Amino acid sequence: MSLLYKRKILLGISGSIAAYKCGHLVRELIKRGAEVQVVITHTAKDFVTPLTLSTLSKRPVYSEFIEDEQKPYGVWNNHVDMGLWADLMIVAPASSNTLSNMATGACNNLLTAVYLSAKCPVFVAPAMDLDMHSNGATQNNLEVLKQRNVEIIHAEFGELASGLVGKGRMAEPENIANFVERELKKRLPLSGKQVLINAGPTHEHLDPVRFLGNNSSGKMGAALAAAARDLGADVRVVLGPTQANLDLHGMDVINVTSALEMLEHMQEHFLRSCITICTAAVSDYMPVNKTNHKIKKTSTGDELSIPLKKTPDILSLLGKSKTSNNVLIGFALETNNGSAYAKDKLREKNADAIILNTLGKKGVGFETETNEVNVFTASGKTVSYPLQDKKTLGKTLFSLFIEEFNLTDE
Ligand SMILES: Cc1cc2nc3c(=O)[nH]c(=O)nc-3n(C[C@H](O)[C@H](O)[C@H](O)COP(=O)(O)O)c2cc1C
Repeated sequence: MSLLYKRKILLGISGSIAAYKCGHLVRELIKRGAEVQVVITHTAKDFVTPLTLSTLSKRPVYSEFIEDEQKPYGVWNNHVDMGLWADLMIVAPASSNTLSNMATGACNNLLTAVYLSAKCPVFVAPAMDLDMHSNGATQNNLEVLKQRNVEIIHAEFGELASGLVGKGRMAEPENIANFVERELKKRLPLSGKQVLINAGPTHEHLDPVRFLGNNSSGKMGAALAAAARDLGADVRVVLGPTQANLDLHGMDVINVTSALEMLEHMQEHFLRSCITICTAAVSDYMPVNKTNHKIKKTSTGDELSIPLKKTPDILSLLGKSKTSNNVLIGFALETNNGSAYAKDKLREKNADAIILNTLGKKGVGFETETNEVNVFTASGKTVSYPLQDKKTLGKTLFSLFIEEFNLTDE
């Protein structure tokens, strides 16, 4: 999902020939799920019509403090409210005149008044002829704005409306949207952090068509992974075979079948991950031998015995190689004596926390949309979370992990 999804964006359009591209920009932002409110300068209306922009944004376009031509007469377009409404503001194209007004705090039109009122992150995409762009005054204004934490979406190199070639073209609408998304991601608490999660069941094959497995859907793991992604982390999910429709958008998903394959990929990525969460319901046993052909009913008599051996204990093996840079969390599912078992497991596996699923209750466990858990940390804390939607629980658990394990520290 785009980081612009459900964001309220103020799009300030000023008087550059590049304003004609704003129809595309509005569409691009809306395509990514944003709500767009256009504020346009008087001059910019010569380059793109408010009718086009209001049609595309599905909102009225504001230009003047008081829209004299409209009825009822003398309605104030409240710049303060607009500034506070927005989650972010993009001024694109930003003319040299508007950049100068923004840098000096001149409040001579609705766009600059809204800018001065806005408390949200502000981005500007300059657009002008190459000499206007390289002029010391323009560069100075950009520098002043940068120092005030305005993000500059740098002008691109290419052919300009004047026929000259150089740096001054407004960044293309798609590049503007990508730039804003990248910057928003950088501001998220887990930006630049690697998160590793295993999820789903494993299938331990007896023959090409039969396996030992379980009903794990992978939903809890996917909910935790989505929470980490939405906090800005780079998330890798090692996923066992599941039919569930999981939201793993924007993540690196490695599909595996068996416990051995899952172990291999978890070990490969473990040390570079700041937090690893083992949610997968890994089969405890696998057949000693796997036949290459289907075991025939006629060849086995009335009973069939299949020798099994233990699968590798992924959590325990990761715990053995853990350094001070790795937080390791495991899930446990017990029918009785759960908390004693969870505390033992914490120590034995060298984990930083164990999350215990309470089994046997309605709405808790494998294939459900909800879950109820108790978290036991190595520092001795126990935190209980009542029955709730797995997605909400994923977010709540990540807030706990960030705080408990200082995940946002460098
Ligand atoms: C045809 C034409 C194209 C223009 N293109 C640009 C431009 O690309 N960038 C710019 O900074 N100014 C450009 N200008 C000048 C601005 O429109 C002018 O400085 C105006 O005062 C800007 O007002 P505003 O910043 O309030 O929108 C252009 C003017 C005309 C007539």
